[in-house]
Amino acid sequence: TATGGATGKRVLLAEPRGYCAGVDRAVETVERALEKHGAPIYVRKEIVHNRHVVQTLAERGVVFVEETDEVPIGGLLVFSAHGVSPAVHRSAAERELRTIDATCPLVTKVHQEAKRFARDDYDILLIGHEGHEEVEGTAGEAPDHVRLVDGPDAVDAVTVRDESKVVWLSQTTLSVDETMATVARLRERFPDLQDPPSDDICYATQNRQVAVKAMAAECDLVIVVGSRNSSNSVRLVEVALGAGAGAAHLVDYAREVDPAWLAGVATIGVTSGASVPEILVRGVLDLLAEHGFGSVLPVTTANETLVFALPRELREARAQR
Ligand code: F3S
Repeated sequence: TATGGATGKRVLLAEPRGYCAGVDRAVETVERALEKHGAPIYVRKEIVHNRHVVQTLAERGVVFVEETDEVPIGGLLVFSAHGVSPAVHRSAAERELRTIDATCPLVTKVHQEAKRFARDDYDILLIGHEGHEEVEGTAGEAPDHVRLVDGPDAVDAVTVRDESKVVWLSQTTLSVDETMATVARLRERFPDLQDPPSDDICYATQNRQVAVKAMAAECDLVIVVGSRNSSNSVRLVEVALGAGAGAAHLVDYAREVDPAWLAGVATIGVTSGASVPEILVRGVLDLLAEHGFGSVLPVTTANETLVFALPRELREARAQR
């Protein structure tokens, strides 16, 4: 074809991919906090789930901690994009920490929903991955009302107090299709199950899945740039395979691309998770070009323009740039 060049080798590049508005805001929050207050500043958990981002910030004087008790009294602590429970806010206050909250506003929205349904005494079936920080934060808003449902196979074990007062909410970074399958099974068991007031799976997660789906069937191989602990990145691999990609792999860096994957391959799809800086995608594209995959065609399924304001404590800093 005209697009494949003489060799027929080509790359389809998903658009949108990479940074979402919540990640962009969280990373900039840490950078501005460093500029304004100087090192060390502390971040609870990974600011976003990306190895490169975390390593780069650590080199600049950011200290990543697991819990508030690792931060010296009075220190400056940033909460990550994934959100924290009220208990974490309390323990930070007890240590007299200065805090900046980089929780994505779309995660905060789910927290508000959980609080509201708990106030109305609903059982809240929170669909999400056990142990993920976002789920821990959201569940922590209403520990007595939330039951975690980790995928369709977990539905049979769910118990509720009152079947007529049940609502489902979800983690923001799930597979849309798998979540709908979980909801369908929940609804078989609880016909009165209420839907969330608006989508909990965020626009960025949905858009990246739509884009990779649009190209997957044409791809012999899909390379997703992202870290293993990044929920939305791992979902992109699953969605690509589910939509017909011949193979799909997750890599943090170009050097992790195994040349053996490229043998006999004509079309390679490339995308990246919502926490992935574009420089890492460039690295993969450069490597593919060295292997004859220099022809790159964008596959665009949406244009994203959303931008979130920085946390209040830092807004002045952005205005001065
Ligand atoms: Fe927020 Fe969605 Fe990104 S919840 S941090 S916009 S992946």
